[in-house]
Amino acid sequence: MRGAAYDTAAVQLQLSDDGGASQLSTSAAYDTAAVQLQRFKHLTTVFRPFVRIFLGKTAPLILSIYDKQAITDMDEIYEGDVICMLREKIPDQGVDLSFWSPPYFVGKTYERHMDFDGWKRLIADVIRQHSRILKPGGFMVVNIGDILCFPDPQMPRFQADNIEGKRVAVTRDMILEARRANPGLDRNGLARMLGCSEQTIQRRLENNNIRGGRSQAGTRIMPTSHMVCQWAGDAGMYLYDKRIWHKDPAWMSSKWHSGSYRAVDEYEHILVFWNPGITVYDRSRLTDREWSEWGSRGVWEIPSVRRNRRHEAEFPEELAGRVIRLFSPKNGVVLDPFVGTGTTTCMARRNGRHWMGIDSNSEYVRIARGRTRAAR
Ligand SMILES: C[S@@+](CC[C@H](N)C(=O)[O-])C[C@H]1O[C@@H](n2cnc3c(N)ncnc32)[C@H](O)[C@@H]1O
Repeated sequence: MRGAAYDTAAVQLQLSDDGGASQLSTSAAYDTAAVQLQRFKHLTTVFRPFVRIFLGKTAPLILSIYDKQAITDMDEIYEGDVICMLREKIPDQGVDLSFWSPPYFVGKTYERHMDFDGWKRLIADVIRQHSRILKPGGFMVVNIGDILCFPDPQMPRFQADNIEGKRVAVTRDMILEARRANPGLDRNGLARMLGCSEQTIQRRLENNNIRGGRSQAGTRIMPTSHMVCQWAGDAGMYLYDKRIWHKDPAWMSSKWHSGSYRAVDEYEHILVFWNPGITVYDRSRLTDREWSEWGSRGVWEIPSVRRNRRHEAEFPEELAGRVIRLFSPKNGVVLDPFVGTGTTTCMARRNGRHWMGIDSNSEYVRIARGRTRAAR
C-alpha cells in the first residue's frame, strides 16, 4: 500500500514537471539512486527552482527521488507551528486531500494570542502553502463557521434594552410619564409611587443597565468564507463545491445570539477547492445509497461533538469520514494542518488512507497520535 502511494507521488511529480512526456525509471534505479541521494534530504522546497535550472532535464527524476524519501514522513503527526511544519515536512505535490478546520477567532484558548490581522495572515499563509503541497487535481477542503465573532473596542456600542431581563418591570417610559404627571416628586417619591427602589429609578433614567452598553467592547460579527475563497483563488485554486454542515443548535455558546434578534449558531460551511490537474472520478468510492443519502447532497445533517473533554472544538468523525471518502482516493495521502486531537487522521487511517497532521499544542498532538494509531 505504501509503495503504491510513493509511486503515485513520484509519477505525478514527474508528469507535472515535463508534461507527461517522460517515462519513469525502474524501481531498482529509484532505490539505488535513493540511497545515494540520502544526502539531498536537507534540500528544502526553497531550493527546488535552482535544482530545476541547474540539473535541467534530469531535475524531475532527482526531485521525485527526493520526494520519495520525504514522503516516508507520512503517517505521522507533527508538533509545531503550521507554516514551519508545512514547509519542513510536507513535500511538493505530496497530498491528495487536505481537510481542516482552522481557529475561528472566537476566543478559544489556542487563539487568544492572535489579533484579527494575525488570524488573517495565518489562514492566508496556510492556504498559499496548499498550491505547493497538493497534487494536481487534489482538493483542499475547509470547514469554517463563516462567521467571526470577536470584541471590537472601535465598534459603536450596541445598546439593547433587555426588557425581560429586568427584575423590576418598571420601564424608563413609565418613570418619565410619572414624572410628567407629578412634577414635584423626587426619586424617592417616584420609587414609592411605582413600587420600586430609588436605585431602579436612577438606573432607568441614566440608561446604565443597558446590555453591552458602557464598559464592554461591542461584539463584532463578520462572514469569512469570501475571504477564504479569495485567498484560495490568489493561490491558484478554484471553488469546486460547497456544502452545509447542519449541526444541532448551540444555544449555550452562541455569543452573538443572546439578548439579540440574531439566530443561534447551527450550521457551518464545507468549502471544497480544487487544485488544477486531472481529478479521477471514481463512482465506487461510495455505495449507491451513500451517493443519494449524502454524497450528492448539499446539506449534511451531522450532530456536533457535544462533550469536548479532549478538545474545545473537535469536529465529528462522521464529517471527516465523509469528506475523506468523497474527495480522496484509496491509499491516497490525507493531511490536516490543524489536526487538534486527530479526528481527520483517525478517519483517514480507518478508511485506508495515509495520514499527516500538524498542531502546535503538545497535548493535542499526544492525543492525536494515540487516537490515530489505535484507529481500525
Ligand atoms: C478548530 S481546532 C481543530 C480541531 C480538530 N479538527 C479536531 O477535530 O480535533 C484548531 C486547531 O489548530 C491548532 N492551531 C492553532 N494555531 C496553530 C498554529 N499556528 N500552528 C499549528 N496549529 C495551530 C489549535 O491547537 C487547534 O487544535
